[in-house]
Amino acid sequence: MKTGFVGLGNMGTAMADLIASNGYKVTGWEYDGGVVEEINRKHLNSKFLPGVELNPNLAATGDLNNVFEECEVVFIAIPSVFIKKTLESVKDRVNEKTILVNLAKGLDKRTGLTSFQTIASLFPGNRTMMLSGPSIANEFSRKMPTVVVLAGRSREDLFVVSRILDNRYFRTRFSDDGIGVELGGILKNIYAIGLGMFDGKNIRSVNFRSAYLTIALEEMTKTGIRLGAKKETFFYLSGMGDLLATSLSEHSHNRRMGELLARGLSLKEIKEQMGILPEGYNALQTVLYIAEKFHVSTPLSRSLWDVINGRYEVEKFIYLFIKDFIEEEKL
Ligand SMILES: NC(=O)c1ccc[n+]([C@@H]2O[C@H](COP(=O)([O-])OP(=O)(O)OC[C@H]3O[C@@H](n4cnc5c(N)ncnc54)[C@H](O)[C@@H]3O)[C@@H](O)[C@H]2O)c1
Repeated sequence: MKTGFVGLGNMGTAMADLIASNGYKVTGWEYDGGVVEEINRKHLNSKFLPGVELNPNLAATGDLNNVFEECEVVFIAIPSVFIKKTLESVKDRVNEKTILVNLAKGLDKRTGLTSFQTIASLFPGNRTMMLSGPSIANEFSRKMPTVVVLAGRSREDLFVVSRILDNRYFRTRFSDDGIGVELGGILKNIYAIGLGMFDGKNIRSVNFRSAYLTIALEEMTKTGIRLGAKKETFFYLSGMGDLLATSLSEHSHNRRMGELLARGLSLKEIKEQMGILPEGYNALQTVLYIAEKFHVSTPLSRSLWDVINGRYEVEKFIYLFIKDFIEEEKL
């Protein structure tokens, strides 16, 4: 089975290398020509996955057609903002038998569509699948034990994809709640920004973090159900599991954004430092819009938005969190 990747960034390279190490030929398209050259010549990606020696079964290309012409399963591993523009050029040339697996966890602010919905709208004739869950690329690329969720309509297809991924340290579980699995991955980014803000202020109380993450999960679940997800999906790997991983990992871009905000950097400065703003930022704006439209109460997200936009300090956010969100339940 020949496998393809769109994007050999941190996640794309780690996942492509996992499959290559499982013995399959992998071709990955990458936007950055320097990365393509380094992977092909040295089996390294020092820009996005430094310190990991890549399996020679992984080849990189700058031509997207090479990926879609040859591969039966193609993983999409670029941030959601780039998906539409990148894939539009091959829209009419993709074999209808190709299975597309989305790894991106974000919303397109312009269209309001999730990455999975964007992919499904570009390729209506293809079978599509979502992979999510606690899967920090820097961990599983170093063979640390990881369990993720694959969501799709056909069990047969889920087995095809799980066969190329599963090994001694990496396992897949299945779900039929595609939207629930995807929303868990998108929404947790919002609350990871919040946790990063506490880290940036050196607020390390485990009691407080636990209360914050519990309320975050409650708010994610409420929003998700309103958008068609199943409640129980949020209490499993792609909900609670991913919320914990992203909020607590030093590798998370979203948690890092919160840390930088707490240290006083502006959004412009953060964008300059990180290249693009992490996906939780767009998700937060879109979710606030959706929450208003569908009358979902999301006080935590709203307060995070106020802090991000400098309307009040992180310390005040914490004070209000304790006072309003927790106290309110007693009324
Ligand atoms: N890194 C992780 O641990 C992880 C885990 C789970 C899911 N994800 C998801 O995977 C997706 C990719 O994240 P990442 O961490 O690999 O990002 P990254 O920053 O490491 O890589 C970004 C990728 O986007 C490409 N890119 C940059 N500019 C582009 C443009 N103009 N057009 C097209 N492509 C462009 C880069 O070349 C690179 O391949 C995100 O949606 C993220 O939520 C990441």
